[in-house]
Amino acid sequence: MKILVTGGTGYIGSHTVVELQQQGFEVVIVDNLSNSQASVVDAIEKISGVRPLLEVFDLVDKEKTADFFHQHNDIKGVIHFAAFKAVGESVAKPLLYYRNNLVSLMNILESMGENKVENLVFSSSCTVYGQPDELPVSEKAPIKKAESPYGNTKQISEEVIQDTLKSLPLKAIALRYFNPIGAHESALIGELPLGVPNNLVPFITQTAIGIRQQLNVFGDDYNTPDGTAVRDYIHVVDLAQAHVVAVKRMIENRMKHNFEIFNLGTGNGFSVLEVIKSFEKVSGEKLNYKIVGRRAGDVEQVWADPSWSNEELGWKAKKSLDEMNASAWKWEKAYRGKE
Ligand code: UFG
Repeated sequence: MKILVTGGTGYIGSHTVVELQQQGFEVVIVDNLSNSQASVVDAIEKISGVRPLLEVFDLVDKEKTADFFHQHNDIKGVIHFAAFKAVGESVAKPLLYYRNNLVSLMNILESMGENKVENLVFSSSCTVYGQPDELPVSEKAPIKKAESPYGNTKQISEEVIQDTLKSLPLKAIALRYFNPIGAHESALIGELPLGVPNNLVPFITQTAIGIRQQLNVFGDDYNTPDGTAVRDYIHVVDLAQAHVVAVKRMIENRMKHNFEIFNLGTGNGFSVLEVIKSFEKVSGEKLNYKIVGRRAGDVEQVWADPSWSNEELGWKAKKSLDEMNASAWKWEKAYRGKE
C-alpha cells in the first residue's frame, strides 16, 4: 500500500518513513530539500533495507503537484509534513510562510480530490493552544490567537482541511505535536538544523560537542517550580509511530468522524533546567549554560493530556526524557564523526 510522505527527508518525516516501511507500507517522498538533504534517503535505506522513492519538487507548484498525483495514481494516503517551521523567521517573513505552508496544502488537497485519494494525516502543533487556561491541555481546549505567522498557518491549515472535507470524500487526522526531540536509535537519522538552532535540544547537543559556546536559558522567572519554562518533550520515534497508527485507522475505516484531532505528547512537563540535568546525566558532559532574559513569544508552560490519543489510537509515548536526550547525543556525535 503506497503512502505519500511530503517532507519525508525532514526530521519527523524521515523517522516516519522508517516506521511506515517497517510496517510494510511502500513510501514515496516528495521534498524540495529546502531544509533537508537527499542523502537522508540513503540513511533510511540503511535502517529499513528499503529505498523510498524521492521526488524533488516544490508542492507550491500546482502543475508539478498535479502531474505527480497523476503519475502515482495508486497512492492510498498522504502524510503531509512539508512546511516551514521556524517561529522567528515566520515573524520576519510572514508571506513566505503563508504562501509556502498554505498553497502547498491547497495544491495537495486539490490533487487528492481529483485523484480520489481519501486519507490525509496533517502535521499540526500544540502551538494552536497558545498558553492554555488549563493544564494538561486536551483536544477540547480552545484555539487561541496564534502568536506567530507560523502558528497561524497551522490553525488556518486545520480550518482549510475541515472546510474541504465537507465538499470532498476526504478523511483527515490532524496530529498536534508537543516538543519532538531525540533521534533514531541507529543514529543514522536525526534532527539537522541549518545554521544556529532555534530549539532547545539541538542547541544543547551542539554546545556539548563544541560548536556553540554556551546555551542561553531563556528566563528563570516563570511561575514554574524552578522558574524555567515547561514543555512536553516527546521522542521523535514515538511521534513517528503515531503517524502509522493514524494511517491504519483511516485506511481500515475506524475513524469516528471524517476529521479527527489528536494530541501527541507524553503528558509530562519538564523545565529547561530539568532537560539540561537529564542531558548532563546521560552524556556525562558538563553543559556551559547561562540564564538570560525571556524569549519573546514563549509560553510559560504547556503539556499534553494524551488520554484521548492513548484510548482512541491505542498509542502511547514510551520513551523517557533520559532516553530522548541519550539518543539526541548519540546522533550529534555520530553526525560529527565523534563516535
Ligand atoms: N530554550 C532555551 N534556550 C534555547 C532554546 C530554547 O532556553 O536556546 C527554551 C525555550 O525558551 C522554551 C524551551 O526551551 O522554554 C523549548 O524551546 P524550543 O524552541 O525547543 O521549543 P518551543 O516550545 O519554543 O517550540 C515548539 C515547536 C514549534 C512551535 C512552538 C510553539 O518547536 O514548532 O513550540 O510555541 F511553534
